[in-house]
Order: sequence, then structure tokens, then C-alpha cells
Amino acid sequence: MSTTEQPQPNANKALWEKGDFTRIAATMRASGESLVGSLGITEGLDVLDLGCGDGTTAIPEARLGANVLGVDIAENLVAAGNDRVRDLGLGNIRFQVGDASQLSELADDSFDLVVSIFGAMFAPRPFDVAREAVRVTRPGGRIVMGNWIPNDPTLVAQILRISAAYSPPPPEGFVSPMTWGVDDTVIERFGAAGVPADRVSLERDTYTFDYEGTPSQLLALFREYYGPTMNAYAAAAASGREADLQAELEALFNEQNTSTDPGTTSIPATFLRVTVAV
Ligand SMILES: C[S@@+](CC[C@H](N)C(=O)[O-])C[C@H]1O[C@@H](n2cnc3c(N)ncnc32)[C@H](O)[C@@H]1O
Repeated sequence: MSTTEQPQPNANKALWEKGDFTRIAATMRASGESLVGSLGITEGLDVLDLGCGDGTTAIPEARLGANVLGVDIAENLVAAGNDRVRDLGLGNIRFQVGDASQLSELADDSFDLVVSIFGAMFAPRPFDVAREAVRVTRPGGRIVMGNWIPNDPTLVAQILRISAAYSPPPPEGFVSPMTWGVDDTVIERFGAAGVPADRVSLERDTYTFDYEGTPSQLLALFREYYGPTMNAYAAAAASGREADLQAELEALFNEQNTSTDPGTTSIPATFLRVTVAV
């Protein structure tokens, strides 16, 4: 870099430090806990939770006795995770800032299990993400990813699809995070990291957003606190289409709600669960 060049702002980091993802994460705790319960975690297992947010899966991993390191690009979410850990008095888990595309602070073969639920999928340079996840996993260990699926009819894929229609086109060379939800692409990325296709298993699974309020109130939470939705509203406002975006998202949240109690919301969303045997 010459002396006149300024460091580029990190858009990936800025997106997730925007708003307050902990407000959305609070609606995802039950599914996070149940997913972690299915991972066969035993006392003393070394676990890396990548794109850990404030610990929706990392904290249940630690409660099962694993030694957990949570890594996330967003400083506010790392701080929120460490606050939760302190409040809970857990001594076997800590959170630190890091980038899933470049984990140079972590040594090769450090973890028995790398978990990334809707986390590393949002990092740039997906081939680097796969390579780094494999590098830090011990031979015989596992990587488990949860990735939203492009064009899936359920909540998150539809929020992102609708939001994209109101937003300017992404910069040239941008790789959509949703490509992590395509079977062949996942196999190709881990293949390039040295893992043969027969060691990658792919299945559909469900995460449920549970909220003590109406679907419209849950949408308001996304509008106020979820970076990608905040950006979509800002873009829609700039082009005078905010009301259209609001109407589309209101319809989506109401259609997807399965709760029979009018005061609460429960929205199941399908994701691709990837398990890699390293
Ligand atoms: C949808 S949230 C999910 C958080 C958490 N895994 C959970 O289940 O609540 C996406 C997370 O990925 C993190 N993230 C995005 N890009 C990242 C990157 N390059 N490296 C590490 N974390 C990243 C965000 O900061 C955010 O915490």
C-alpha cells in the first residue's frame, strides 16, 4: 500500500456490527440448543464455533463440557458473547474477533469439531473459508455447517431474495453467501480444500424462529436490528419503495407463521446441514 492509500473499510464486518444481531439471535436459542444436542459433544472436546455471534450454539456446546472458542468478525457480538459467558459463570468458553476466511491466529489441527451455523457462509472468499476450516480441524475431526438455501421458500431465503430486489446490485466479483446452500458448490469448495466428496454429507434441516409477539413485531425487530434487512430498508427508502418492501415482508412473515397463539410467532426455516469428515 502506498502512503496515500487508505485501508479499505471491511463491508463484511460493518454489515454485522450494524444494528444488534443479539436481538434476532434471542429468537433462535431453542433451535441452536437442539442442533448442538445432536452433535455428539462430549466432555473435553475442542470446539471452534465460527461466526459464533453471541453464542447461540457456542454456549450450549460449552454447557455439554466442550472447550469452546467462538470466533466472529463483529466486535459487538464477541463482546455480547463474552458478557453472556461471564453472566453464566462458564470457564470453558471464550469469544474472540477473527475472520473465517483467514484464521492465521489459529494453529493447524487445533479442534475436534468446527461448527458454523449461518456464520462462515457470510464470510468473503468461500474457498478460503473451506480451506481454513479444514486446516484447523484435526484429522478424524468434523466440520458442521448450517447454510441457508437459495430460492428456498422458507423465511430467511425469502427475506434475502426480497431484500435483494430492493437493493443496488452487489459489487463485481461478490459471491453470494447463499451459494453455500448449493450441494455441488459445497462439495466443490471442500474438494478444493482436500476433502473428497464421499466425506461430505448434506441434509435438509429446520431452524425455528420463536418470538413472544406478532409476526409484524418480529419483522420490526429485523427492520431495526438485522444488518441485511436494515440495508434493504435504507435502499428501498432511497428509491421511494419502502412501503412496497414493508408490504412484501409483512406478507412473508404472516404467511410463514405457524403459531396458533395470536400473540406469539413461530416460523420454521429450512437450511442445508453440511457435515464434513476431515
Ligand atoms: C446470522 S449470524 C449467526 C450467528 C450465530 N452463528 C448464531 O447462530 O446466532 C452471522 C454471523 O456470522 C458472522 N460473520 C460474518 N462474516 C464473518 C467472517 N468473515 N468471519 C467470522 N464471522 C463472520 C457475523 O458477525 C454474525 O455473527
